[in-house]
Amino acid sequence: MMNSNLLKGLTLFAASAAAFGAMAQDIRIEHLSPSHTYLRLNGSDKQLLLPIQESVDDAKINVIVDGKLERTFYARLAKNKTDFTVPFDMSPYKDKNVILEVVSPHSRATLREAQDDAAWGDLKLVDKFDTTNREKYRPMFHHTPQYGWMNDPNGMFYKDGVWHLYYQWNPYGSKWQNMTWGHSSSKDLINWEHHPAAILPNGLGTVFSGSSAIDKENSAGFGKDAVVAMYTSCSDNQTQSLAVSHDNGETFDIYPGNPVITLDSEARDPNMFWNPETKQWVLILAHALDHEMLIFTSPDMKEWTLQSSFGKGLGAQGGVWECPDLMELEVEGTNEKKWMLICNLNPGGPFGGSGIQYFIGDFDGKKFTADTDANGNVPTKWLDFGKDNYALVSWSDAPDGRRPVVGWMSNWQYAADVPTTQYRSANTLPSEIKLFKDDNGEIYASLVPVKEIDAMRGNLAVNLKKCSISGKPRNIDLPAANKGICEISMTINPKNSQEVNLVLSNKRKDQVVMTYNVENATFSFNREKSGITDFSKDFPAVTTAPTFGTSDLLTLRIFIDTSSIEIFGNDGRFAMTNLVFPNEPYSTLSISVQKGKAEISNLKVYSLKTNKSF
Ligand code: FRU
Repeated sequence: MMNSNLLKGLTLFAASAAAFGAMAQDIRIEHLSPSHTYLRLNGSDKQLLLPIQESVDDAKINVIVDGKLERTFYARLAKNKTDFTVPFDMSPYKDKNVILEVVSPHSRATLREAQDDAAWGDLKLVDKFDTTNREKYRPMFHHTPQYGWMNDPNGMFYKDGVWHLYYQWNPYGSKWQNMTWGHSSSKDLINWEHHPAAILPNGLGTVFSGSSAIDKENSAGFGKDAVVAMYTSCSDNQTQSLAVSHDNGETFDIYPGNPVITLDSEARDPNMFWNPETKQWVLILAHALDHEMLIFTSPDMKEWTLQSSFGKGLGAQGGVWECPDLMELEVEGTNEKKWMLICNLNPGGPFGGSGIQYFIGDFDGKKFTADTDANGNVPTKWLDFGKDNYALVSWSDAPDGRRPVVGWMSNWQYAADVPTTQYRSANTLPSEIKLFKDDNGEIYASLVPVKEIDAMRGNLAVNLKKCSISGKPRNIDLPAANKGICEISMTINPKNSQEVNLVLSNKRKDQVVMTYNVENATFSFNREKSGITDFSKDFPAVTTAPTFGTSDLLTLRIFIDTSSIEIFGNDGRFAMTNLVFPNEPYSTLSISVQKGKAEISNLKVYSLKTNKSF
């Protein structure tokens, strides 16, 4: 008897569509029901281009190889029109029978409606996926994925002169999905090389954020100097898993004994480090909905003992606690060492959505205790006073006692809506984290851009030793080379003025207004008219930082890339990261005072050089 699906099913051969020409026999499309389609392919070493329409829901795609379910992924297959394509790599299945079983998210009554989906006509097999940049807003000196969605930085480590950066990646679209560890590496923390994905979704789920460390003592028995990654496996629940690399982080084997930690509540983003004093691994894990961090120890990364928890009722509690980090740092200018616990939270950040809070305190190998302020309270402290620095964590095994960190340069409020499609999101400029004491003896963290960025300085376009600003604004032309990317630095002496304004603008009337308010000792950034802002009601915003100055003088370093502005004030005592999407690069910096007279000294504008040519 003939299968009724077969009878119902209309078999279309992509071959018949003229557009497919030579691909004739390669893709066979069989509609089995209005929401169920088989794409049959003969395994080859080609890339199958999947047509994506961002505004539709995800289709579920089961990859069936020689009759066996190999894996499942999700993609927003085009219904009415194709926005862009993403590659599905056929090369692992060469000479095999491949069926991509597509379960459509669209409810429809008839097979005919299913046949009309734009995706079927736009499927294509190619030898190589074209990753040439198509985005005007792609940064020139910040890391981005070649294509697809990116969120948190993951599992960063340094080994043999190379900085490795992994990241939460969706290889099949530019919105969050299919969490995979993408991989890039760099010799200078600025210029990045892309590598194939390092850890893929597997039997225990998709691969959420985590950390890596070099097992120098071979504590786990995976081999001396093996790179061990620990990440959250996410399926119906979140558990913690290991993966091991024997080729310096290029490829990872999933540890067969996974998961190594299971809990009965949401916990994620394990961050581990070796404690040489106790000869144990320490792990800090975000107990996301409980707003606390769990601290475990282990002799071998496989058996973990819960030692303590930190955070109940402390700091900002408005959202989920995620992506922790714990590190010991020297307090600058003292012999004192303190521990810093980083706690990313979303929402509940200082300007809505995502934010990075941190606690300063002590850690005895098992328990973290936060310092209290003069009133006996644990103060809430923020690491960045913009809207677009999140999930920031540090590199492990960095040389020369360095502690570079990097964040995801976006905000969950609108990350999926920003005006790019080929890729979504960049990382922040890597920076060095330091501790300092303010005038009241309270310890805070500063962020200072890594020194490697200085090597990008090109032409010194502006070099003004001193100038006084009163009634009329002083206009300064910004360099036009390389899409206007530049570094601006200056010292502001407000003298008798109350407010000093720095305005970036262009001929399209886009403007960013930055204001130093002397009396309040604040620096603010207004991006309400900065360019394209209407993709989200949460994007137009004013963000404000305390200046942490030791006098009224304010020093600034401002880094402008194609779609971001990062400000480091008073030697990084405050940092402010904000995205901007100007219609054309900002071409003028205009400095003015509200009343009175201010003095600007050492105003320098370097145009930045980059290897990128787009
Ligand atoms: C933070 C986060 C993490 C999680 C990851 C998933 O941005 O929610 O807690 O591991 O993103 O992509």
